Amino acid sequence: MADQDRRDFIRSAVGAAATVGVAAGLTGNAVAAAAGAPAITDTVTRPAHGPARSAGTGGQFSPIRAEVTILDCNIEGKLPADLNGGFYATGPDPQYPMRQGNIIFDGEGHARLFRIRNGRVDYRTRWVKSERFVANDKARAQLFPMYRNPYMDDPRAKGLSRSTANTHVINHKGLILALKEDSPPVAMDLNTLETVDPVYTFDGQLPRDRAFTAHPKVCSKTGNIVAFGYEADGFGSASVAFFEIDKAGKKVWETKIPVPYCGLLHDFAVTENHIALFVVPLAFDPEQIKRGGIHWSWDKTLKSHLGWFRRYGDGKDVKWVQGPAQSGTHTMGAFEDAGRIHFDTEMTAGSPFPFMPNKDGSPPDLPGSVSTIYRISANLSGKTKGYEVKQLYALQAPLPKQDDRYNTMPYRYGYAACPDPTVALGEVAGSCYARMDVQNGTYELWNAGPKVSLAEPVFAPKSVNSREGEGYLLGVAYNLDQNLRSDLVILDAERVKDGPIARVKLPVQASPQVHGWWVREDQYPA
Ligand SMILES: [Fe+2]
Repeated sequence: MADQDRRDFIRSAVGAAATVGVAAGLTGNAVAAAAGAPAITDTVTRPAHGPARSAGTGGQFSPIRAEVTILDCNIEGKLPADLNGGFYATGPDPQYPMRQGNIIFDGEGHARLFRIRNGRVDYRTRWVKSERFVANDKARAQLFPMYRNPYMDDPRAKGLSRSTANTHVINHKGLILALKEDSPPVAMDLNTLETVDPVYTFDGQLPRDRAFTAHPKVCSKTGNIVAFGYEADGFGSASVAFFEIDKAGKKVWETKIPVPYCGLLHDFAVTENHIALFVVPLAFDPEQIKRGGIHWSWDKTLKSHLGWFRRYGDGKDVKWVQGPAQSGTHTMGAFEDAGRIHFDTEMTAGSPFPFMPNKDGSPPDLPGSVSTIYRISANLSGKTKGYEVKQLYALQAPLPKQDDRYNTMPYRYGYAACPDPTVALGEVAGSCYARMDVQNGTYELWNAGPKVSLAEPVFAPKSVNSREGEGYLLGVAYNLDQNLRSDLVILDAERVKDGPIARVKLPVQASPQVHGWWVREDQYPA
């Protein structure tokens, strides 16, 4: 990989340690760029800071390209006796050097597991053996050289699933499903991470070419997986399929709706009775694709559209309201109350991914890519001119999470990695984990310091019946001053500001991570 490619790659991580620019809505290199200052680097070889989206802190997207198994990891501190289960994650780890113009979202998925049981921790990583990975491996070459651009494919890629399985993981029927939003899941063994089905269609209930979101929700009442797949009528089509799979794996509902245009639908919101989606102007760009570019470009001439419709219906009741060109990429929580739907998400004023092209050819809008936490609300009746937007937190947190038992119901707590907002503008802040109390508007932080990059955390309840927020916050800390040697940090989720109660000390850099998922001990097959 050329030096520039590697720098671009490292800078494309989403992270937390950054220079603080909350007041100006900037972070990391965005601050430096806006101030005319050189980009901040805290090591010579790893430019660790950058724009909130395109770079963050670099650590968690740095390639490793080696599968690792470590049994009985070293533990510092006391592992809680009631913490038993598995912390899974996936992230892009390019199998071959990336072509100029390609983006980190196209790296092949590398999954990992911290299996925690009876006071021991085993660490295991495996490439996700998708059809794409296996074909590349056989060819010893990259057959899919550009992000979601089939025109650029090698002929040997024809007919194969494009999934990189590099974005998120969930558990289902004793399997781990590795997800990429343009393809069906890849199913892996829950314990070994070996791939068991490279194109998992829920026993043929979904078409092999049906996309499956990287952010399905688990219904808080039924345990069903609620999911969607965009471009449901073919490449670039403006239609989205929605479906629900019960715990036994049976598809119990499906419908399809047209959307105003084919725009990025990375996440959505599900409440007890409704589904909401936010169509944003990171739009399908057929001309750019034909020129050999990536799938999307930011088209600021388009409006953002919030839509919602009833679950279990035919989707014909969908209502749409418009707002200015802006983006909301990751949902923290959603609920309905007194005839209104509330959709908590991180939002940006411009393109959330400045490393993707702007349709008008303008340079990246780094300040516009900084995300903070908002609540989007609308009257379910549709009798409203647009949607309402209210900032909940100025925390720069592009990957907010919640206790996943509350995906479809009113909730109180959110969690995220973010730079320390209390550090003065222009100062190098530490990388923090935050717990947000959205019912009273407060938050608390643990600051890991400026030499650490924290990946997105997961919440692990003490038991299936624990009250909301009663449990642990787990996340991977990449040590920027130790060549990215990593620790799994474990915090009491109700005392986040006290910092880790235990650290699992890896002797190596953890594999790359976008999103992670917790599997409780009671969810493992007996
Ligand atoms: Fe995501």
